[in-house]
Amino acid sequence: MTNLLRCFAALSLGLVAAACRGETSAESPIVPIRNMFHQQRYNPQSRSDFFADHRSMRKPVAHTFAREMEPSSELADGELADGSGYVMRTPDSVIGQLGGLDGAIARGEQRFNIYCVPCHDRAGTGKGTVFVLSQKNNSGMVAPTNLNDDRIRHMPDGQLYATITHGVRNMPPYNYSIPASDRWAIVSYVRALELSQAGEQ
Ligand code: HEC
Repeated sequence: MTNLLRCFAALSLGLVAAACRGETSAESPIVPIRNMFHQQRYNPQSRSDFFADHRSMRKPVAHTFAREMEPSSELADGELADGSGYVMRTPDSVIGQLGGLDGAIARGEQRFNIYCVPCHDRAGTGKGTVFVLSQKNNSGMVAPTNLNDDRIRHMPDGQLYATITHGVRNMPPYNYSIPASDRWAIVSYVRALELSQAGEQ
């Protein structure tokens, strides 16, 4: 008799387990220990009666930054600490980190060829494949700037760095895809590229 009961119990357990597999349900899952699964929250853009201005979406407290962001500094922003303008020359500390000027240019060339060439082309003239194809399709893409233009040549290094970081008008930002030291390396390479193209103008 006990054997029969055992058999029956094993069979029903098996059935229960089988029923749980691969089933979808619109019901909330049963969570015996609720921990932090369910707690009060606001939907994006919803109204809050807690805050005086009724906005549930709060601005970050001044001077906070996300873990993936670098704290504000000349190295992170390309701007002078007193806010009076851009850093004129790539800081020595970052060139040092990149293994000196040669290392910075070598790394910059590699990154430039990956990230910038599709639009700006290898010589930086702005006739990259993306632009050429866009013209064939009449997509109306704004022409990428010729990096050998006098205006770009005389732009402070920090501004070139900030352009890569934040993008400019129709050019997308690269702060999430290219780490800060690589953005500086690209600046070093663009400077070398400009020098190499100077005779071509
Ligand atoms: C998706 C295409 C695209 C890529 C990739 C791209 N750019 Fe651009 N870039 C543009 C376009 C388009 C403009 C012109 C924007 C405008 O005038 O609206 C531009 C403008 C610029 C300018 C001129 C800024 C100014 O002040 O006028 C610089 C400098 C520049 N890009 C550097 C770079 C560098 C360095 C990279 C690689 C990290 C890069 N770009 C990657 C499309 C691109």
